Parts: sequence; C-alpha cells; structure tokens
Amino acid sequence: MSTVINPIIAPAPPGAPFAPGPLGTHITIRGLTKYFAGWPLYEDFDLDIPKGKIVSVFGPNGCGKSTLINMIAGLIPVDSGEILFDGKSLAQTKIGYVFQNYREAMFPWLRTIDNIAYPLRLEGRSKADVDARVEELVASFDVKFDLKRYPYELSGGQQQTASIMRALAPGPEVLFLDEPFSALDFEMTLFIREKLQEVFMRTGTTMLLVSHDLEEAVYLADQVLLLTKRPTRVAEILDYRDARPRTVETLSEPSFVQMKKLSLEIFQREVRK
Ligand SMILES: Nc1ncnc2c1ncn2[C@@H]1O[C@H](COP(=O)(O)OP(=O)(O)OP(=O)(O)O)[C@@H](O)[C@H]1O
Ligand SMILES: [Mg+2]
Repeated sequence: MSTVINPIIAPAPPGAPFAPGPLGTHITIRGLTKYFAGWPLYEDFDLDIPKGKIVSVFGPNGCGKSTLINMIAGLIPVDSGEILFDGKSLAQTKIGYVFQNYREAMFPWLRTIDNIAYPLRLEGRSKADVDARVEELVASFDVKFDLKRYPYELSGGQQQTASIMRALAPGPEVLFLDEPFSALDFEMTLFIREKLQEVFMRTGTTMLLVSHDLEEAVYLADQVLLLTKRPTRVAEILDYRDARPRTVETLSEPSFVQMKKLSLEIFQREVRK
C-alpha cells in the first residue's frame, strides 16, 4: 500500500516574506490571487509542486484547473502573488506546453517537422544540432507517419504526438499538459500516454497534467492534486508511489484501485459541498 496524504502547508500570514517550499520543490506558488469579472477564482493560494514528478490536477468543472496551469505557464496574468521555479522567474525557465486543441496549436503553414524544430531554431541552434535533436525525438516517439506533411494532413493523434514532440524538443524543465488526450481516440490515448511515461522515466521532467479522466490522472501521477470548487483551494494532495513503468496490470493493483477510490471520494465530497 502506498497511499500517503501530505499535510497541507499552512498559508503564510499576510505580509510574510516569500517562503520557499520544502526540499525537492520545483515550483513555489505563494499568495496567488485571480479574479474573473469581480469574482474570486483563487485567493491567497499557496502550493508547492515537486521537482521531477508528474502532478495530475483534478477537480470540479470550472474550478480553475486550466487557469492554474496557464498562470504558472505565464499564459494568463495573475492579479497578485508570486510563482518561482527553483527560485527563478518564468523568464529564466524553459517550459513546454501541450494544448488540448492540437488543431490550433500547430502552425499550419509549417510542415510537421518544421513545427517540431521551431523552438530549437528559435534558440538559435545550428542546423546539425536541430536535425540531431529531431532525429532523437522521432526515434523515441517511434514515429511512423511522414513528418514532411503539413499538420492538417495528419490524424488527430499524429498531430498531438507531433505537438508533444515540439513541446519536448528544447528539453523543458517543466511540461504543462491541459487535457492532452481528451480529443483523441482510445488507441491513440494509450499510445501517447505510454510515450509520455517513457519520456518522463528517461528525463525526469516535472510535468503538470490536467485530466478529467480520473483513472488516467492517477495512472500517470506521482501526486494527485485535488482542488475544491471556487474560490479554489487545495482539497487534498495524494502521493501515489507505485513503481514505473505502470502498465495495464497497474490498473488492477490494490494500491491503484485504492488511490482512485480515495481521489473519487475527495472529489465527490468537494462537489457536494
Ligand atoms: N477569461 C475569462 N473571463 C471570465 N471568466 C473566466 C475566464 N476564464 C475562465 N473563467 C472562469 O473561471 C473559472 C475557471 O475556468 P477554467 O477554465 O480554469 O476551469 P477548468 O477547471 O479548467 O474547467 P474545465 O473542467 O471545464 O476544463 C470558470 O468558472 C470560468 O468560467
Ligand atoms: Mg480546463
């Protein structure tokens, strides 16, 4: 059995100096406040996200899962609060982001291979370096489709595979994924999920994954972050420590089943409040 409930860290009193998270913390969020149309979504929200782990974000509809990761990734401005990555600002941190809607995420005027190479070229790498890195990604994702095609000529699963490759290309310190599988068929979901786990096992990249599929959220997670209804707080943080690689067998392990049950109970408790 590997279920451990983390103690929730008490928020610092107002005006307190920035207190970094415990050892092993990658992203420290302090005093995060965000209002939409005069209504609080997050108010003085604190969170420590561990380094080199996959954290699955789970919570009621509209509780602010996407907004949370988008604020951390700098896609949505915060009203107030501080977010640091290993003590550094976002600008000093290399991140990758995988969108749910892959159709709008890829540049339609670039061939798929050039989409994947885009962030590498942006970094000013040499052609040889770009080619080598793309080759490496093609091998690790076991790509069977033609990367010379434009994204709109590929299937949804192929496009999402390519957009994950693009996000991983520069070797991000943090990878954000907002429901990356929700527009894919089951077969493709399983394939990309396994690839993602392989990449994680190889690189140890910190990943923040929003998923509305509880089984998937737990399956991939080292930590399940359960959120409340808005104004959103941390309902519970559950550590899930089953060994990787997790496989089909994992789904029937008592520890997995127990973790899913516990997550569901907390979720239901929060939804009914
Ligand atoms: N630009 C905006 N203007 C006003 N309200 C917004 C805006 N963006 C999000 N919201 C509101 O903030 C809340 C959180 O939205 P968000 O998309 O982060 O939730 P979510 O948990 O990702 O939801 P879902 O489960 O539907 O993906 C929702 O109530 C939403 O209506
Ligand atoms: Mg969302």
